Amino acid sequence: MSYRVTLIPGDGIGPEVTAATLRVLDAAGLKFDWEPFEAGAIAFAKYGETIPRALLDSIERNKIGLKGPVSTPIGEGFSSINVALRRKFELYANFRPINPLPNVPTHYPDVNLIVVRENTEGLYSGLEHEVVPGVVESLKIITEKASTRISRFAFEYARKHGRKKIHSIHKANIMKLSDGLFIACSRKVSKEYPEVTYAEHIVDNTCMQLVTNPYQYDMLLMENLYGDILSDLCSGFEGGLGLVPGANYGESAAIFEAVHGSAPDIAGKGIANPTALIRSSLLMLQYLNEHAAAARIQAAVVKVYTEKQHLTQDIGGTASTGEFTDAVIAAL
Ligand code: NAI
Repeated sequence: MSYRVTLIPGDGIGPEVTAATLRVLDAAGLKFDWEPFEAGAIAFAKYGETIPRALLDSIERNKIGLKGPVSTPIGEGFSSINVALRRKFELYANFRPINPLPNVPTHYPDVNLIVVRENTEGLYSGLEHEVVPGVVESLKIITEKASTRISRFAFEYARKHGRKKIHSIHKANIMKLSDGLFIACSRKVSKEYPEVTYAEHIVDNTCMQLVTNPYQYDMLLMENLYGDILSDLCSGFEGGLGLVPGANYGESAAIFEAVHGSAPDIAGKGIANPTALIRSSLLMLQYLNEHAAAARIQAAVVKVYTEKQHLTQDIGGTASTGEFTDAVIAAL
């Protein structure tokens, strides 16, 4: 069986970690018919569009994508490709499991957390305007529909995978209407899942709780901006951005991508850690019901980390991207 998947290698370290991931999937004996596309600044220079029509058509057809990081200019220039793709295909659930690998220096080696982030609205709706010179407004959109949908996603996941506890994270003491609606929706959905303990924590307190005792949390559920920030904070529990996988799920499509960005500071040097994208591809394999293959690759990755001989520089090793990938393939 061959899977047709849209592939966006991205820019910066994107093509390097993507090549490594494809090598591992190939070595595991999986057959993919990749449809590769450029996006962002590279695509704009060539085609005058940051997201070429053919790329959108490909995702529309295949309903599944594997994506490397794509740079977004800060404070000017084109809008984020990531945000645009999530919105276009209604990939409303951003999913980031935090589960440190062996031998990675981290303060909390046994953390096992899942961050579920609403991906389509909140302050990322892109509704900003200048009222008068020197005054801008940025609109935070929270809807009952999206808040209920993401809450249901989290609780369904908990039910299916035996997770015990969900904290809905908010700032409803200040944003009484918007965050108030978000927690009202998650509270309502929680009533349908009595086997899952439900609680609410204010986002600033959550940051403090996370860095002092992350073990109290099982799953964190939140709107877009808090999810963006807290999932990077939680990436710290993994020991670095090069390790954390991610997935964006919608009703009928999914895109799998690492949490990290294009890392321009190390791009082209052959030293990027491909673990995050390899782990993202395991979420993709699970989505495709290739559970056995996902488990085999996961075991190979764990073996390489356990043996500690071929780890990349970001986590204190000396291996190049290629040497790490060779070691995973040998372990397979
Ligand atoms: P970044 O994640 O690219 O880099 C932050 C730090 O982590 C850097 O020191 C980098 O070298 C290191 N790092 C990241 N991934 C690594 C890996 N796999 N192996 C080893 N070290 C790694 O974040 P930054 O610098 O804030 O963003 C750079 C660009 O990436 C920006 O244009 C941003 O918009 C874009 N970006 C894209 C994302 C996506 O496409 N999903 C997500 C986040 C940022």
